[in-house]
Amino acid sequence: MPRVLGISAHYHDAAAALVVDGEPVCAVQEERLSRRKNDPSFPLNAVEWCLDFAGLQPEELDAVVFYEKPMLKFERILTMALRGFPRTWQSFPRAMKNALGGKLWVKGIIASQLGVAGARILFAEHHRSHAAMSFLGSPSREAAILVADGVGEWATLSLGRGKVSVDGAVSLELTRELRFPHSLGMLYSAFTSYLGFEVNEGEYKVMGLAAHGKPAHAELVRRIARRTSDGGFALDLSYFDFHLAARRSHSQKLVDALGPAREPWEPIDLASPDGARWADIAASVQLVLEEILVDLAQKLHGETGLDDLCLGGGVALNGLANARILREAGFRNVYVPCAPGDAGCALGAALLADRVHFGTPHRELPQHPYWGPDLDANELAQLAREDGLPLSHAADPVPPVVQELVDGRVVGWMQGRSELGPRALGHRSILAAPHGAGMRELLNRKIKCREEFRPFAPAVPAERAAEYFDLPPGGAQMARYMSGIFPVRREWRERLAAVTHVDGTSRVQVVERAMEPRFHALLEAYGERSGIPVLLNTSFNLAGEPIVQTAAEGYSTFRRSGIDVLAAGTTLVHKRREGAQRVEEEAVA
Ligand SMILES: [Fe+2]
Repeated sequence: MPRVLGISAHYHDAAAALVVDGEPVCAVQEERLSRRKNDPSFPLNAVEWCLDFAGLQPEELDAVVFYEKPMLKFERILTMALRGFPRTWQSFPRAMKNALGGKLWVKGIIASQLGVAGARILFAEHHRSHAAMSFLGSPSREAAILVADGVGEWATLSLGRGKVSVDGAVSLELTRELRFPHSLGMLYSAFTSYLGFEVNEGEYKVMGLAAHGKPAHAELVRRIARRTSDGGFALDLSYFDFHLAARRSHSQKLVDALGPAREPWEPIDLASPDGARWADIAASVQLVLEEILVDLAQKLHGETGLDDLCLGGGVALNGLANARILREAGFRNVYVPCAPGDAGCALGAALLADRVHFGTPHRELPQHPYWGPDLDANELAQLAREDGLPLSHAADPVPPVVQELVDGRVVGWMQGRSELGPRALGHRSILAAPHGAGMRELLNRKIKCREEFRPFAPAVPAERAAEYFDLPPGGAQMARYMSGIFPVRREWRERLAAVTHVDGTSRVQVVERAMEPRFHALLEAYGERSGIPVLLNTSFNLAGEPIVQTAAEGYSTFRRSGIDVLAAGTTLVHKRREGAQRVEEEAVA
């Protein structure tokens, strides 16, 4: 059975993943090891860790598969540069340097860095890597597929279907595509940049901000992303610069239409005219994105008549759009993988090569996101002892951690192998009581150091989810990896104030016992004490840093922030009481 290493690199979110004997063995994003957020470098640390983890030498690999076709991508960069000349003359040398410095010579880089013969290096088309991550990672045997992102080689949006036959043979066909520069990802990113957030990073902020505004500019955005008769759309490129200069994504024409863009350092005061205007602009682009995606998905449902839809690409991180697709497009199940963005393509490309190139019969993959490096809690004990901090071990960390949470303290919670993808799903999480708005403010100011308008997410055991959240059929499944945004039931909004967004929604994680027994037990035990089995669950990192990977990184974050208690495996470290943060109103009697 083949041993296949998948790699994504050179754009953003580089990663490596290993599939052996038809099963994923491990996958990790380079940023978690290099500690450089969204690290796009060739993922040498991730590759090395994957090979070490599996006990393999590079020469034992049957294939190394890269997540896109560099020549096609180079062709696109070159074509766009020539088409845009002379306006592209400034960006042209940079694009060429990028292409010549890495993107184009991937085969040589892989061969020289890993010592793998050129004949064993394969290339998967970018959207097929996204599609494979979504479809082959899902429990579906036949599904429609919709991939949408910024851009890969040429495609920005792909539609197709995947099928597993009775003998396990996989077919995955993307039959229609929309090409660069007409891109939903680029549309959203251009508004992300206009609103003063970092592209490929601040898209969440636009979605969070959207809930505070009204879609007053939706007509303009509809003109900018004009619908075409085939169900697609075409961008009016005069509003954008991403395809030309690439110094900023939006053009002066967008500024003329909407007013001055926000500078990154400008605070967002929602009570000010500018703050309200930015929120309205965010709401407008969010609405139009949803309209286009729902429409495309509805048409795809009509054409295929299938029950299942698999979503992939960075646009599938938009939980509001995902939830609308689930409710409105006609599919019974909408699957979103734990890593729909480019990091997940490393695993997608490896699975695609395994199932299609090598013909390994498909079998359903384990349904969990925990493919990263394990935790060594001994590191933590040693560090805490050196610093003289109170340290304890508990055969079962659930009861003492529940007590801390009930007392209103903030807990760093690290367990087992880290998650693949951008969400902390109970292995590298910061947990807190979700009941009062005070906790949201404390976390925003003293731990996460982020904008007040951004919401925090809750986690709830699967058996209890429907009591607190208004989940449509298929919603609990979508919420497994926090992929959908759903309403908090009206009667619970006040008691779940720290995790209820201004529009009454939340990006809930529905935790199944089989997927994560200890986190599930923690939620249940917290429910027994507090009456509500819901905890605030935010990623274990500080602003601008990747999510922590090792116990030592967790400890460093704990020391530098307002986290009161760190629980890593069965080891607990406390801050000295006089230094502990506490929100009195959060305490549950
Ligand atoms: Fe992508």
